[in-house]
Amino acid sequence: MCMDILLGLQWGDEGKGKIVDFIAPDYQVVARFQGGPNAGHTLHFDGIKHVLHQIPSGAFRPEIKNLIGNGVVLDLHTLKNEILSLTKLGVDLTRNLFISKKAQLIIPTHRALDAASEKQKGENKIGSTLRGIGPTYADKVARVGLRVGDILLPDFKERYNALKARHLEQLRFYAYEVDLQEQEEQFFEAVEFIKSYPLVDSEYFINNEIRKGSRILAEGAQGSLLDIDFGSYPFVTSSNTTVAGACTGLGVAPHHIGKVLGIFKAYCTRVGSGPFPTELFDETGERLRRIGHEFGATTGRPRRCGWLDLPALKYAVMINHVTNLLMMKADVLNEFEEIMVCTHYELPDGTITDQLPYCLNSTKVTPVYQRFTGWQCELTDLQSFEELPAALADYIRFIEQQVGVPVTLLSYGSNRKDTLMRA
Ligand code: GDP
Ligand code: IMO
Ligand code: MG
Repeated sequence: MCMDILLGLQWGDEGKGKIVDFIAPDYQVVARFQGGPNAGHTLHFDGIKHVLHQIPSGAFRPEIKNLIGNGVVLDLHTLKNEILSLTKLGVDLTRNLFISKKAQLIIPTHRALDAASEKQKGENKIGSTLRGIGPTYADKVARVGLRVGDILLPDFKERYNALKARHLEQLRFYAYEVDLQEQEEQFFEAVEFIKSYPLVDSEYFINNEIRKGSRILAEGAQGSLLDIDFGSYPFVTSSNTTVAGACTGLGVAPHHIGKVLGIFKAYCTRVGSGPFPTELFDETGERLRRIGHEFGATTGRPRRCGWLDLPALKYAVMINHVTNLLMMKADVLNEFEEIMVCTHYELPDGTITDQLPYCLNSTKVTPVYQRFTGWQCELTDLQSFEELPAALADYIRFIEQQVGVPVTLLSYGSNRKDTLMRA
């Protein structure tokens, strides 16, 4: 049991980056298994605040090997910039960043197709980050995509041109015009730059590590409710963000999975379109956004905010067989006099349920709330769960009882140090 998996249980931005960085010293390898530059994982320590998009969040720990797995869709220009900005911070990744040859490449026309497709959808747009994620995964499944290993082939340029020609045809269908020159120059510069990093057969790499007895931490991107199969389809991303994605996205068999660390905020946020039953449109929602600094780490868009949604959380816990719950951003609720938790949904026919309907987009559910009194105090320098204010301890206990999984980590600030583990 040597691979633990940390993944988001909501709609992303739960604080995965912070916790991966925090627990990374318990592991020898940190591996991203899906998603791409749509992710924005924020790390904050020693006066540094840094957002990682494609590089695993073990990057600041020099002893750790960071692997970008085959399930990732990779934008090489973004990756080059990420590497360079880490270099400026004194982080040298030349020996501890490994890139799967089987990861799919995002090329400039994928980004154009993303934008064209969203434009065509009009009011029904997904609210994509426009990083080319959907079109790249679509090409992977259509078996026409390019992979990282292809950059080493003598005919890479021809392969690139063939895919680009296909995309230009599609862009004509959308009547979408784009000037590609600068983006293509950047792309090919990045192709050369990346060749000096280890491009590996990542399934061998990671299974060798497992054989050697290394502990692996698989780092999810996005969240379970954005999963292509189990999320609020079609308002989802294009990968399996849930637990099985770590197996297919890395080439590690389920047998090796140890703990599944499910991370969630003490409330909910969502960025982009799609259903959000507990969304608050009033001053309380604004307050959550203001105190929680709820603005996208990748796009800067304001995040939609609302109360904790237990039917959705239970669903994510079930799909992932979560063994440990990690509760984030408790401090954002410090000032609140009352805190609401959605325990059930009321369906249009009056039925009360704690299950997610087939399609949250077309079934209007009304949240049924339970009210909690806020703790209304600062959380600083906590050493044990016994020190928690009673109202916060009650809040956590209630969630544990409802979900049936213990909360083993509490985060109460963005900084690495504002983290409490249950002994
Ligand atoms: P990720 O995508 O899951 O890694 O999450 P993001 O980095 O996109 O968003 C989480 C945001 O919350 C970041 O700005 C973090 O610095 C911040 N954050 C993480 N944990 C906490 C916490 O416990 N309290 C507060 N106030 N901020 C936190
Ligand atoms: P991290 O890893 C929050 C959302 C987008 C959009 C939908 C599809 O930082 O938690 P895509 O670009 O994948 O086609 O967008 O998914 N989305 C995220 N929301 N956090 C993320 O990543 C996200 N990555 C994508 O806003 O609604
Ligand atoms: Mg994020």
